[in-house]
Amino acid sequence: MVGECFQAEHLPYIVSKFEDYSPSALDRAAQEVLTALKEESAAVHNEADWKAFRDRWMARKNGILTQMNDAWLKSSPNTAKREVGQLVNALRSEVETIVERAKASVLPVPIAERAAKPQAVIQKQLSALDITLPGIRRPVGSRHPVLKAMDEVVGVFKAMGYSVEQGPEVETDYYNFEALNFPANHPARDTQDTIFIAGQDHKPSRDRLLLRTHTSPVQIRAMQKAPPPIRVICPGKVHRHDTPDASHSPLFHQIEGLAVDTNITFSDLKGTLDHAMKSLFGSSVKTRFYPSFFPFTEPSADVQISCPFCGGKGCRTCKQSGWIELLGCGMVDPNVFEFVRANGYDPKKISGFAFGMGVDRIAMLKYGIDDIQLLFQGDVRFLEQFA
Ligand code: PHE
Repeated sequence: MVGECFQAEHLPYIVSKFEDYSPSALDRAAQEVLTALKEESAAVHNEADWKAFRDRWMARKNGILTQMNDAWLKSSPNTAKREVGQLVNALRSEVETIVERAKASVLPVPIAERAAKPQAVIQKQLSALDITLPGIRRPVGSRHPVLKAMDEVVGVFKAMGYSVEQGPEVETDYYNFEALNFPANHPARDTQDTIFIAGQDHKPSRDRLLLRTHTSPVQIRAMQKAPPPIRVICPGKVHRHDTPDASHSPLFHQIEGLAVDTNITFSDLKGTLDHAMKSLFGSSVKTRFYPSFFPFTEPSADVQISCPFCGGKGCRTCKQSGWIELLGCGMVDPNVFEFVRANGYDPKKISGFAFGMGVDRIAMLKYGIDDIQLLFQGDVRFLEQFA
């Protein structure tokens, strides 16, 4: 007897009236219905079971759905009608689905019917198809001007034997600054207005994360990966906390270059960049190297090209100067090699050069774009001009 009492869950489900219409009472009632529905559908093993199951739940006269309608919905107070109505509707569609599913499990669709059905559907669709309607045009996409410029620069350096290396955009302080000879608190860090990741204060400062401000950290990663000689080019996105205007964007693109070997000299750097600029902007373009400063190169230079628009005479694009500044470069500082010395980079035995250029600038010059913001707005009317 006792055992039977504890098997109350196996007593058939009965629709009982609500005592109150609180959300928790409705929830409880819904759960009871669903549990019963699932248990009973699991007990359907043949066609006769299924019919009994269907009738118990869906019979018009006294099926559970009808009872729910009478005992719950019709007798509910006006204030609760909406909630009860929604509940009954949701349960009805659940019952219909489960009853259909139970049917499919005991009455497989005859093969002939299965084959015939799609045919009927196709017929119906054909008769609804108006072949005189205009088609749907699917416009073909094209490469973004920044990526086109990037591919072109990478192509120029690949032809000179450089391979492509990539690094993370979320970088550590170590790679972005420390190993590039920017000591902590050194004022040179101020030249790159950095976006730091929050909540890093518990870490040692070299492990703190930031959005890389340049592609130069990939120099270090590349040298850690492979001993000299090395020639790599590293394209990618970089971030600085700059206010957007016609020539600044907080996200932009750079391409870094690094060549390390025995006896690499400044004239190798000049020859390489002069060749690259002529390949990108035309053979009549001249280059000039202006003394500059970067913590990770010594000596350092800014490279200018003669204005490809006016040929050096002076115009709006070059602000009447005849020259356009395009990249930073220099000979790798021995202090940088010290950080990767263990991998064969002994500054007494090897030397190298590095450079970094802004891809967005290059794209703007090549394609005559006067506002960097256009590159990031995704306006199809702008982008399709470069297709
Ligand atoms: N990383 C420097 C910048 O973003 C550019 C640079 C790269 C300079 C390599 C020298 C060598 O300003």
